[in-house]
Amino acid sequence: MDRPLRSIELEIESLGALGDGLGTLADGTRIYVPYAAVGDRLIVALEGRRGDGAVGRIVEILHPGPGRAQSPCRHFGRCGGCALQHIDEASYRRWKIEQVETALRRSGLGNDAISDLVSIPPHTRRRAALVALGRGNGVELGFHARASRSVVDLDECHVLTPALTALLAPLRAALGPWLTAGKTADIVLTDTATGIDMLVAAKTAPSLAARRHLTDLGRAHDLARISWSRAGAEPEPIMQQRQPRLRFGDVAIDLPPGAFIQPSAAGEAALVRAVLAFLPKAGRVADLFAGCGTFAFVLSRHAAVHAVESDKAAVEALVRAASRAGLAGRVTAERRNLESYPLAAPELDRFDAVVFDPPRRGAKAQAAALAQSAVPVVIAVSCDPKTFARDARLLVDGGYRLESVVPVDQFTWAAHVELVARFLRAKS
Ligand SMILES: C[S@@+](CC[C@H](N)C(=O)[O-])C[C@H]1O[C@@H](n2cnc3c(N)ncnc32)[C@H](O)[C@@H]1O
Repeated sequence: MDRPLRSIELEIESLGALGDGLGTLADGTRIYVPYAAVGDRLIVALEGRRGDGAVGRIVEILHPGPGRAQSPCRHFGRCGGCALQHIDEASYRRWKIEQVETALRRSGLGNDAISDLVSIPPHTRRRAALVALGRGNGVELGFHARASRSVVDLDECHVLTPALTALLAPLRAALGPWLTAGKTADIVLTDTATGIDMLVAAKTAPSLAARRHLTDLGRAHDLARISWSRAGAEPEPIMQQRQPRLRFGDVAIDLPPGAFIQPSAAGEAALVRAVLAFLPKAGRVADLFAGCGTFAFVLSRHAAVHAVESDKAAVEALVRAASRAGLAGRVTAERRNLESYPLAAPELDRFDAVVFDPPRRGAKAQAAALAQSAVPVVIAVSCDPKTFARDARLLVDGGYRLESVVPVDQFTWAAHVELVARFLRAKS
């Protein structure tokens, strides 16, 4: 938009892919309005271009739409963590399912296979990536503001576990000596079975005083471990009282600092339930993008499992846990980059089923290789319906049938949707 900023009256017709309200000007220009609900009549300030239209900010709600609701969090509207706290449960659930339907439709796939959304309760996010910024007179700690590098200094959060929320204020104080004005850090907090594990990534090493403050924090709040790293480097311990540990099925895993785990225990349980429900009677299963073994260990009760993952620390944790549990023969692991070196059809054909759970960008190369394989059952776990639909198309073009899709709302109030899907190789 080259016009100077101006205000307009706008009616919201639908919600777009980021959860933003969408309205249309008389000349057909589409206006995206964050935090707007369908049916809202608004005064909107136009703030710039976005894609095929413009983006606007709510100045005034003239008349709320029928699905508008009161958000529970006072940071909602600024914090980038949540996009959809302002609509009621029915509109919210419909929108989440529509994201899966739309992605599949755009890939030329039908919607028949999609079942109802599995909800995950608030206050259960046990793993969170936060940002901290030194201000000179203190530290801001929270999530990034929406579409911005600024930090929303959180004093409440309705997604994090109570233990993580309670740590925000003391952590903010403890970071003061390290994060002087202008210094930033990325912080991964994981609420494990043996206490909170914290990894701080920063450009400058903590001074002795900064380490002492963090050690005091760890002792006072009974944290399991605190580590720090320079971006991309091996984490170094600052303090450890216990080994951060979780159980996948009945197998205990020693988590590496900052390790990927499913963001909530309830979300993990929902995904595991769906994967097991989709598992055929199988002798051998491949678990691709296996992480520390979230699926591998529960699958190993039903089949021999080969886990493949690119992250060195995750593979080592998985191998150690398998060996400690006496599962070394039943669960094998391989460190491999599945984007550059996907398992090829002859390797895949040894398995009765393949589970794959890639990062948000999906698994294009691996899906293309699966499409060439004879594996009878493929189970996809995905945190992005768009890349899932692209990979699903490859499988369907290779002769698979998309039989079932279970959407799981792992990221409550965010514009993300997770899902588990089953593909069956059509009989020739
Ligand atoms: C969404 S996580 C799933 C992990 C695991 N399935 C779980 O549920 O905890 C995606 C995993 O893919 C791994 N990964 C990312 N890129 C990869 C690649 N190119 N090849 C193999 N693994 C990769 C990440 O390290 C991460 O563990």
